[in-house]
Amino acid sequence: MKKVLFVCLGNICRSPSAEGVFTKLVKDAGLADEIHIDSCGTAAHHAGEGADPRMKEHALKRGYDLTSIARGIDRKQDFENFDYILTMDNSNYNNVVALAADVDKHKIRRLTEFCSKHPHDQIPDPYYGGPESFELVLDLLEDACQGLLEHIQKEKNS
Ligand code: 4NP
Repeated sequence: MKKVLFVCLGNICRSPSAEGVFTKLVKDAGLADEIHIDSCGTAAHHAGEGADPRMKEHALKRGYDLTSIARGIDRKQDFENFDYILTMDNSNYNNVVALAADVDKHKIRRLTEFCSKHPHDQIPDPYYGGPESFELVLDLLEDACQGLLEHIQKEKNS
């Protein structure tokens, strides 16, 4: 069992969408029993809330039903439990690295590392943006999640 944790700032836009996109890919690949998927935020002020209604609406149009409930990152358990900790932008990456013990820092990656179609090095925060910001998040996540699944499968077979 491999465990994948997506992390953003609020856990109401990017990381719940990453969780939704990756969950569908993993399920379609018949790997739901082999890969555990979760998401959280470095800030906990939206904890207990569902995903942002704008994000949910854009995701649903592409067939992703976002059901996760926001939670803050647990600086002990999350770093111990998960094998891959995927972050969204530079500030998010730096915040997560700063929370991790040295032995766990290698688990933390930028999710855009796994993009092959889009040259972006960050998944920008859509919270104060318009509809195109939410569409860009989904474009980047679909690209990155495909690459992430291929990466995990390759590592498993090596
Ligand atoms: P997320 O987006 O990190 O992708 O969930 C945000 C959600 C909420 C806020 C910022 C970003 N906020 O400032 O409340």
